[in-house]
Amino acid sequence: MQVLCTTKELRHHIANFKAKNPNKTIGLVPTMGALHNGHLSLITQSKEQCDYTIVSIFVNPTQFAPNEDFDKYPRKQEADLNICQKADVDIVFMPEIAQMYPLDSTLQTTFNAPKNMANVLEGKTRPGHFDGVLQVVLKLFNLTQPTKAFFGQKDAQQLLIIQKMVEDLFLPVTIVPCPIIRTQDGLALSSRNAYLSENGKREALKISSALNAITKAIMQGIKDSKSLERIALEVLEGTEVEYLAIVDRELEALQSIKKDSTLVLIVARIEGVRLLDNLWF
Ligand code: PAJ
Repeated sequence: MQVLCTTKELRHHIANFKAKNPNKTIGLVPTMGALHNGHLSLITQSKEQCDYTIVSIFVNPTQFAPNEDFDKYPRKQEADLNICQKADVDIVFMPEIAQMYPLDSTLQTTFNAPKNMANVLEGKTRPGHFDGVLQVVLKLFNLTQPTKAFFGQKDAQQLLIIQKMVEDLFLPVTIVPCPIIRTQDGLALSSRNAYLSENGKREALKISSALNAITKAIMQGIKDSKSLERIALEVLEGTEVEYLAIVDRELEALQSIKKDSTLVLIVARIEGVRLLDNLWF
């Protein structure tokens, strides 16, 4: 496994690799580190589907608002490298901020995510968040030129907006959505779970329980969004729910669910930690 820290080294490496292996496929797994089994599942998929796997580890400042946890975001370089080594990753790219953003942010070319998808749900409380995500993801695509890039369904809105960017800009990469990995009792894995106490983790289970209650209700034939929301909110009673939304793949609210095009999203705050979970139906 090679660990590369500069964009120059990475570009050089990719150019060499492509010249020597014109028919081999490259898989990219973009992350912000503090790797857990959710990230590992993306790496495993890339190993299975591609000849060469690159993992990027970069806590991207442009996707954090000034009041968010950029400084506090967990950084675990040594543990992350061990996980990548064990998973037999080919390259870990872990640049400093100045490598990805050599210029002051006001002097940079910036990016606007489509408003209808970026200003709702997560984007409502995190203005500019998806612009920053697309900016860094596009930079990573250009640097690594992947055949496939792997993203978790855990960050549903992010995944859909990245798919939209790829489609709108005719980017030559296939986005592979990967299922949500959970603890045995159902909590969706997230680097932010590390901020929770044992009690907090127990309370957080209400989120996946609420999604399970929705699945059960759908199986029983309930289709109307209002009724499904009521069922979920009952399970979440006592928890600070930031939003619960039932939308289609363009993130438009649905009055009633439709098979294969429904997304149920829950964001709740537990012990001050924002937790996301969702259900793709
Ligand atoms: P990060 O939060 O580190 O997540 C990296 C990838 O891991 C994302 O695609 C995310 O959806 C996926 N992931 C996280 N938890 C998961 C889980 N429990 N099951 C399955 N997949 C999971 O998302 C980001 O970083 C950043 O926004 C990034 C795309 C790297 C751009 O900076």
